Amino acid sequence: MASTKSLLTMEFLFILSWWCLGGEQLSHAHTKSTLKPGEALRYPDQLVSADGRFRLGFFSFSSLDVSDVGYLGIWYSKDDYHTKLWVANRDSPISVSTANLTMEADGQLRINVNNGGSTIPLNSKQTAPNSSATLDNSGNFIVKELNPDGSTKRVLWESFDYPTDTLLPGMKLGIDHKAGKEWILTSWLSEQVAAPGGFSLEWSPVNGTGQLVMRHRGNMYWLSGVGSKSDFQNIVDQMTSDYVYYNFSYIFNENESYFLYSVPDGRISRLVLSSDGMLTDYPKPIYVRSGMCFGYSSEPGCVQQTSTSCRTSSQKFEQRKVRFPEGVSEWDYNWNTSISDCWTKCWSSCSCVGFQTNSSTGTGCLLYSGQFVDVENGINPQQIYVLITPKTMILGCLCFWTKKKLRRDQESNQEVEIALLFGDTKEASNDGKKGHDVEVFSFPSIVAATDNFSSENKLGQGGFGPVYKGKLPEGQEIAVKRLSRSSEQGLVEFKNELILIAKLQHVNLVRLLGCCVTGDEKILIYEYMPNKSLDFFLFDPKKRELLDWKRRRNIIEGIAQGLLYLHKYSRLRIIHRDLKASNILLDNDMNPKISDFGMARVFGRNAADEFTKTVVGTRGYMSPEYALRGNFSEKSDVYSFGVLMLEIVSGQKSTGIYHPEHHLSLVGYAWELWREGKGLELMDSTLVESHSEHQILRCIHVGLLCVQEFAVDRPTMSDVISMLTNEYLPLPIPKQAAFSTQRQLTVAGLLGGENECFSASATMTISEMDPR
Ligand SMILES: *[C@@H]1O[C@H](CO)[C@@H](O)[C@H](O)[C@H]1NC(C)=O
Ligand SMILES: *[C@@H]1O[C@H](CO)[C@@H](O)[C@H](O)[C@H]1NC(C)=O
Ligand SMILES: *[C@@H]1O[C@H](CO)[C@@H](O)[C@H](O)[C@H]1NC(C)=O
Ligand SMILES: *[C@@H]1O[C@H](CO)[C@@H](O)[C@H](O)[C@H]1NC(C)=O
Ligand SMILES: *[C@@H]1O[C@H](CO)[C@@H](O)[C@H](O)[C@H]1NC(C)=O
Ligand SMILES: *[C@@H]1O[C@H](CO)[C@@H](O)[C@H](O)[C@H]1NC(C)=O
Ligand SMILES: *[C@@H]1O[C@H](CO)[C@@H](O)[C@H](O)[C@H]1NC(C)=O
Ligand SMILES: *[C@@H]1O[C@H](CO)[C@@H](O)[C@H](O)[C@H]1NC(C)=O
Ligand SMILES: *[C@@H]1O[C@H](CO)[C@@H](O)[C@H](O)[C@H]1NC(C)=O
Ligand SMILES: *[C@@H]1O[C@H](CO)[C@@H](O)[C@H](O)[C@H]1NC(C)=O
Repeated sequence: MASTKSLLTMEFLFILSWWCLGGEQLSHAHTKSTLKPGEALRYPDQLVSADGRFRLGFFSFSSLDVSDVGYLGIWYSKDDYHTKLWVANRDSPISVSTANLTMEADGQLRINVNNGGSTIPLNSKQTAPNSSATLDNSGNFIVKELNPDGSTKRVLWESFDYPTDTLLPGMKLGIDHKAGKEWILTSWLSEQVAAPGGFSLEWSPVNGTGQLVMRHRGNMYWLSGVGSKSDFQNIVDQMTSDYVYYNFSYIFNENESYFLYSVPDGRISRLVLSSDGMLTDYPKPIYVRSGMCFGYSSEPGCVQQTSTSCRTSSQKFEQRKVRFPEGVSEWDYNWNTSISDCWTKCWSSCSCVGFQTNSSTGTGCLLYSGQFVDVENGINPQQIYVLITPKTMILGCLCFWTKKKLRRDQESNQEVEIALLFGDTKEASNDGKKGHDVEVFSFPSIVAATDNFSSENKLGQGGFGPVYKGKLPEGQEIAVKRLSRSSEQGLVEFKNELILIAKLQHVNLVRLLGCCVTGDEKILIYEYMPNKSLDFFLFDPKKRELLDWKRRRNIIEGIAQGLLYLHKYSRLRIIHRDLKASNILLDNDMNPKISDFGMARVFGRNAADEFTKTVVGTRGYMSPEYALRGNFSEKSDVYSFGVLMLEIVSGQKSTGIYHPEHHLSLVGYAWELWREGKGLELMDSTLVESHSEHQILRCIHVGLLCVQEFAVDRPTMSDVISMLTNEYLPLPIPKQAAFSTQRQLTVAGLLGGENECFSASATMTISEMDPR
């Protein structure tokens, strides 16, 4: 009986869909690709691109119920997955059966909604009479103003400028500098709801190429790594192993910086950012899987998410067919949340073991607690995300790790304590990712390595304490920083900060190898840099000749990349606060590595707190708002970076006095020269032979933009990198540099000396430049 009924239903469905297809065929018979003034498009009519590949029309998700709410969109004519490539009205769904798309006599393209007669304009500002709207062969819906002979006068509006969740070949992902807007993909809320959801995909241009950056609710979620001709660092295998052969292009010019791609003629391709955070080119390959970077994922490109104390690194959510026999569920009706929001909600709620969304809308969250049982063949078993906990592994990791540490440091009980402390917060150490570990050293082993902190081994004095060279029994050379002032933090916070900082990995950051904490001693152990620091070369009349322009340029770029990582990609949003030549260390190949980053955090100051009573910094590198008021932000680092750039180009210390008559600082001197059109006079005379005046002048220009008096005027580090790597990018005119006038110099002068007003309002730690 039941089967007969369902057969009947099938038949009914078949007839209905045949009828619907018939309607489509009918409209196909007199298909057109263009809408002219005075014309209208109604459901189920469609515009079809001249080559027949793309369609534009109204759609809803249940094709049988035409009164359903839906959207105006574009899709491939032949696509088994019915992917909607673009949606015109994602924020305002409409009743599609009674709506229409019209082009008015004045060229205004708009969706008219039956109820209340409201309209949704598409090209609201860019209209002209004698226009037409065409769905072209790339899937772009373009409104053009026409000449009387029918040729195109200009493009007024195009759907490619308003991407939704899909990047088609030929579409731009990136930055429109002229219009000051970005082309970004934003996922749908759910498979049925086109409203903006949890994920976005943006383009971050770097040094002639760039990378895709996926965010979840604004937080960095996944990075593609740098792109090449046909793949990205972190998705190289998938991209090349399939039948789609991509051709990637990276465009930089004065008006825009963007990424776009093409595929061989006739291929169907689209990069889709789905509501559960997948990046795919349906039907495959899949570049980022559903939920791939949540929890403790160590997949390539994943950005570490905040850890939750009740979760361990081996736990993750998996989609399974399960039932919750006695489970307790909690329904969160918030209709505007996505499956990814349930994911984060459940992960951070310790009692939650599973979740799903409302099966009819794909939104809201149903959170489960209690026990679940797998269901193989039950009636309508539901796919639910459940927490998988491999129980034995956790214990194994912890013991293994602690034992290893114990063997190394048998001396002190306190270190065992520390080891345990690390043990339960750190990632499992048997996953082959040793690079992330913070090793715990015993104090006696550090004393032995540095010859009891002998003065011969002293490399220098940083703002946070002296630095010594050391040698471990195995022969490895290390740099040992003995923190001079006691941290305001407790041991646990200190540890947590170190774990976070040890996770920061970038070629232009000095690597933290470990730490040592005993009594009042807090010691950090770093990799040793054989070529000392930048100031050692730069400010030495002979050694500076070793730094030709190519090396200096490489150093500038490396510092910029390291700083960008700290500001933008490290998730911790670290502001260095003491960037200077002596904090730039040089490796074997003279590549720059920033040291002392994260020190503000290690010392227990909240980096999110934008105001501090304790000013840590170095005269000559401090931005005015930081030096005078203690306000710091990324822009104070940008200021220091600007000073550093001027130093690198000129070979002069910023603390020196340049113009004997005017008592100008380096910044003031550079500003005066630039204003008089004599910028190149700042150039280090040893660079004359490089014949790179153009590049050097550009660096001075960018340097001056960085040291502008007001923080808001200064570029961000990503702007700086765009400016340095893209020679065609027009640069703004720098405004007044900070500390460039007599009055400001007085203030700067006071800063160098001991001024009581400052001491009263703020604790100052001004470190002088100290050669290592
Ligand atoms: C388009 O729809 C609106 C609202 O339903 C209606 O008033 C108008 O007459 C329609 N125009 C055409 C050309 O069908
Ligand atoms: C618009 O089209 C009309 C008729 O096709 C023509 O007479 C008129 O010159 C055109 N206007 C412009 C600005 O091209
Ligand atoms: C790749 O795309 C660019 C820009 O669209 C094009 O100029 C170039 O010819 C393409 N290369 C190949 C091999 O298809
Ligand atoms: C940038 O825009 C200007 C003004 O629209 C235009 O003249 C110029 O050709 C554009 N440059 C490039 C490289 O497209
Ligand atoms: C959902 O909407 C509520 C108000 O209705 C708002 O407070 C909340 O921030 C929204 N959530 C998201 C994830 O957009
Ligand atoms: C899911 O949403 C639909 C439509 O909003 C609603 O009728 C239904 O009750 C919801 N389901 C649950 C389990 O809340
Ligand atoms: C190291 O030096 C300190 C003070 O200079 C001294 O008290 C201590 O005994 C020395 N330790 C060793 C192991 O030599
Ligand atoms: C920038 O690109 C050049 C050549 O393409 C490369 O040599 C240099 O290392 C790159 N710089 C950075 C910081 O990636
Ligand atoms: C940097 O260090 C390496 C290894 O110590 C050395 O071979 C090289 O000459 C140094 N470079 C300079 C410019 O001193
Ligand atoms: C400096 O910080 C203070 C206190 O947080 C704030 O009120 C002020 O607006 C900040 N000034 C600037 C220029 O950022």
